[in-house]
Amino acid sequence: MNALSDEVLQAAQALARGELIGLPTETVYGLAADALNPTAVNAIFQAKGRPANHPLIVHLADASLVPVFASEVPAFAQRLMTACWPGPLTLIVKRHPGVADAAAGGHATIALRCPSHPVAQAVLRAALSLGVQGVAAPSANVFGSVSPTTAAHVRESFPDLLVLDGGACDVGIESTIVDCSRDVPVLLRPGMLSVSQLSAASGVNVLNAFEASAIKTPAAPGTLASHYAPRARVRLMTIEQIRSHLHTAKLPIALWSRTSVYSLEPQALPDGLLQFQMPSDAAQCAHDLFAQLRTMDALGVQEIWVETPPLGEAWEGVRDRLQRAAA
Ligand code: TXA
Ligand code: MG
Repeated sequence: MNALSDEVLQAAQALARGELIGLPTETVYGLAADALNPTAVNAIFQAKGRPANHPLIVHLADASLVPVFASEVPAFAQRLMTACWPGPLTLIVKRHPGVADAAAGGHATIALRCPSHPVAQAVLRAALSLGVQGVAAPSANVFGSVSPTTAAHVRESFPDLLVLDGGACDVGIESTIVDCSRDVPVLLRPGMLSVSQLSAASGVNVLNAFEASAIKTPAAPGTLASHYAPRARVRLMTIEQIRSHLHTAKLPIALWSRTSVYSLEPQALPDGLLQFQMPSDAAQCAHDLFAQLRTMDALGVQEIWVETPPLGEAWEGVRDRLQRAAA
């Protein structure tokens, strides 16, 4: 047995004993526990410092486990699972009363997702063979701070945790969440799957939260305006705003921009401007985002300036995370 499969087995055994582990997924790392063990689930809330009414996502080895948790799966939700699982998509569905109460934070619905990361898949399968039917896992960071995209990030927050190292997360921002618990699907959290992709896959129009507010769909509990925030103050600005504010800025400042800041000669740039190149590709930008925020925060600057992402659907997930980091 090689080293990783040994660790996978250990992780699965830890889950079956009701312990927490750090689990790599294709989106971000999760702080994982047996979703049907209320003591283990409560330990997640404790460790994260997260309010117990903020529901968790339950991770499944495959879609055959959905009926364990869900009481009702509309046809459009079924089509989303078929098209997008395993992958970075979470579906909110109606829940069997009494099943996974703690993970659901008292809500009548449950969030389900089947991750594609090979290590996540291996752990979920090994845990299933030990009787663990679903694994509750929020992002493995302290409540409100930047989500982890490497095993080292997780260890920074939880030094004593058993963390499986699955490398840097491919996607880099959390899964897209679609509420499938009512008549129409509603996007609750943007991610790397766009509304048009989701509408095509589900065969019906997926509404965004703004459209849904018109039909009185409550927002996702726990999607607070301020979230994913580093210690330094994050400011989102256009390149013109950056250029004009730079003269009066209190340096040092970390800057993440796609466009070159200055029309000036490089020697005219202020010394305390610590520049980083922001990818011009949305998927690459999502992949880098949280690690980049951590890197800039670690410089000890008071402010992190980020160039506003471009318009367009591909950037929606990145835009959402940056707006929350800046709120
Ligand atoms: O990519 C991801 O989704 C990562 C990885 C680890 O899978 N997990 C993650 O979990 O981002 P967390 O706990 O950080 O975010 C879960 C989000 C919260 O905004 C929560 O409000 C929402 O899912 N959620 C969970 N259950 C819900 C429910 N029953 N109804 C509405 N929203 C729900
Ligand atoms: Mg989170």
